[in-house]
Formats: sequence, structure tokens, C-alpha cells
Amino acid sequence: MRVAIIGQGYVGLTIAVDAAASGHNVVGYDVNPALVSQLNAGISHIEGISNAALAGVIASGAYKANTDPSVLDGCDVIVIAVPTPLDDARNPDLSFVHAATDLIAQHVKSPALIVNESTSYPGTLRKEIAARITGVDHLYASSPERVDPGNTQWGTKSTPRLIGGMTPAAVAKAKEFYGSFCDSIIEVSSPEVAEAAKIFENTFRQVNIALVNEFAQIADALGVSGREVIDAASTKPYGFMQFNPGPGVGGHCIPVDPSYLAYVANLVGVPATFIKRANEVNLAMPAYVVKRVVAGSGGSIAGKSVVVVGVSYKSNVADIRETPAAAVIDLLRQQGATVTWHDDLVGQWRGESSSPLRGDIAVLVTKHDGVDLKALAACGYVFDCTGTIAGADGI
Ligand SMILES: NC(=O)c1ccc[n+]([C@@H]2O[C@H](COP(=O)([O-])OP(=O)(O)OC[C@H]3O[C@@H](n4cnc5c(N)ncnc54)[C@H](O)[C@@H]3O)[C@@H](O)[C@H]2O)c1
Repeated sequence: MRVAIIGQGYVGLTIAVDAAASGHNVVGYDVNPALVSQLNAGISHIEGISNAALAGVIASGAYKANTDPSVLDGCDVIVIAVPTPLDDARNPDLSFVHAATDLIAQHVKSPALIVNESTSYPGTLRKEIAARITGVDHLYASSPERVDPGNTQWGTKSTPRLIGGMTPAAVAKAKEFYGSFCDSIIEVSSPEVAEAAKIFENTFRQVNIALVNEFAQIADALGVSGREVIDAASTKPYGFMQFNPGPGVGGHCIPVDPSYLAYVANLVGVPATFIKRANEVNLAMPAYVVKRVVAGSGGSIAGKSVVVVGVSYKSNVADIRETPAAAVIDLLRQQGATVTWHDDLVGQWRGESSSPLRGDIAVLVTKHDGVDLKALAACGYVFDCTGTIAGADGI
């Protein structure tokens, strides 16, 4: 099939390369010209897609990135994979989805299957995408992306793919397309079910992470190891699922998607109380980390050098979106410490560069595989947010 993917970020590039590798003719459309040039030079900007994989589909002629929206016309399938952030009031910001939709409305005159993979609340495909496009008989389906960047076990192929279409013909076409590179397709009765399933999955994680973060604080105050308790509880073979505490949540999904559900819940008059409370608990974790660091350093860190180790939001990826490391650093600075950060994967961030791993105090926020554990241990006091440094103070 001739396929266009709108948005060449984590989600869009992954789908583009997977679809191209399975024989489709794919154009990766993005509004960012620098990114498009980089991709056409065979340089991937995301961890899950290697330069070799990208270069392979470019060399075979199956993939090309482009900034020209006229390439969208004549495609069999057009996938929308653009950001769905929150606005300043923490409400859904669908401006990127609207912009992508308006491009389709303007440039695509021959009927296509239009799929939305961007995460959003139920009703987005029908009311915010299909309703904005008139005059052409497109097919519409929702297939929310579930990619977990950096996860080597579960990728596009192996992760079951949800599909909800506005018509049986849309479902059939979407199944044909995704079935060509995904092992398992799960058809649901409507796009709204597919959309809701995705945000419910991420809300489930958000709420459970908040629960375990709160529990870690209770356990510490009781003088019990929270992580040992969680490991012990995890031996129950049914009715329990392990989540681990940490310095907060980051990335494009867990801190953001539940607020999309809370937004529509509010519109229909149902209070999303768990989401609100979970956000409060997770957003307060950096302050808890700093409180513990201060307590563990004799009651004051003023004038001390603190190195925050690992600033991306999860191990072995360079993604710093919504990372709790930002608040940890800011709050440590408010306590009068001289704070640097060390993260070889991130390199540059917030106008600062990664510094050497040394200081009076080290706060391990995210542990990448390559971190120098000897240098970490050489810091006077180590506070471990990851539960991976034996004997260290931490959560
Ligand atoms: N990153 C993840 O782990 C993940 C997982 C599942 C779902 N999602 C969802 O997928 C969607 C995309 O997320 P992402 O992480 O790929 O975002 P991203 O920020 O990595 O990439 C988005 C890309 O879209 C481009 N873009 C923005 N507006 C555009 C437009 N009008 N036309 C063309 N390109 C445009 C940007 O330049 C950028 O390259 C979001 O809804 C997100 O919630 C993300």
C-alpha cells in the first residue's frame, strides 16, 4: 500500500519504518524540515529505530521523509501520529491533531483510510478528525499506539493492536494494513472503545504508580523497606501486579493521558477522583526525594555539591519530556546546594550540559546501563530513587 505517516516522532517513525520494512511504500511527513533532512540522511532520532534499519528502508526505496503535504494525496492509508499534550490549564491540547486533520482536508482529494494513532479521549476520531474533513469519502479508524520506547521485548510487531473503525469497511482496511506488520489485531466495536482503552491503560499505570509511591512513603515512616514489601507481595501468583516507586512519572504518556480522561469525565459530569489524586501524589514525589536527601545529609544541603544522575524519565532512553529530574534539580537548588547533572544519553538539556559524575551527594533519578557505579559510590552520600544500588538510602 502507499502509506503516509503524519508526524515522524517516536510513534510515527516507528510505524513508518515497520510498515516500510514489510513492503509498503511509505512517506514520513513532518513539519520539521531539519528532522526530515536528518531522517533522509539515514539518521534516526529515537532509540527504538537504529540508523541501519532506517538506512535499509531508505536504500530499498520503501521510505522517504518529506515536508511537502502534497505527498499525502493518492495514499491508500494516512496515519496521524502527532503530539497530544496538555495546555497550561492541564486540559487537552488538540491543536496538532487539528493541524494534521486540516492538512488532510486541504490536500487529500482521493479517498483513503485515515487512522489516528495519537492518544486522545474517546470521540476524537469522530468529532475532531472525521467531522473536520468534508467532500471526500474517506474511511476512518482509530488504532492507538502502545509503543514503549526502549522496550526490547514488546515492539510494534508483538504488541497486540487495537482497531476500532467508523464503518466495517474502515475496520477491514485497517486490519489489512496493520495485519501486514503486527502479529495480533484486536477489533473493538467502535473507535471510541479503542481510544478509551488506550487512556484507561495509561490511567491504570498512573494510579498504580501513585499508590506505590504513597506506600513507599508510608513504609519508610514505619521503618519498613517498601521495596522488600512490594517484592514479598509480588510472590502472590494472582490478584497482585508489581509497580515500583520512583521520583515521579515522566514521558509523553503517564503524566498526560489520564488528564484527557479526566477532561471528558468532567464534560459528562463524572468526577475522575483517582486521576486527580494520583497526579497530586506523583507530582509531589520530587519534593519527597529532596526532603529525604536533606534528612539523609544531616539536615542541610546548603553549600554542598549535588550531582543528579540520569535525567531522562526512564532508563536507557534520552527522552526528557515531563521528567521528574527537572523538579528534583530545581528543589535541590532551592535548598542552597550547587547542583549539576550527569547523563551521557541526554548530553544537553535546559541550556546546561551533562557534568562529570562527582559531588558531595549523588541523587540517582534514572539508572542507564552505562552509568559509572564506582564514581557514583565515590560520592559522599548516595540517594537512590531506582532501588538498584544495594545498601544505598533511597525510595
Ligand atoms: N512516545 C510514546 O511512547 C508514545 C506511546 C504511545 C502513544 N503515544 C502518542 O502518540 C502521539 C505522538 O507522540 P510521539 O511521542 O511520537 O510525539 P513526538 O513529539 O516524538 O513526535 C511528533 C512529531 O509530530 C510532528 N508534528 C507536529 N505537528 C505536525 C503536523 N501538523 N504535521 C506533521 N507533523 C507534525 C513533530 O514535528 C514531531 O516530529 C501522541 O499522541 C502520544 O501521546 C506516544
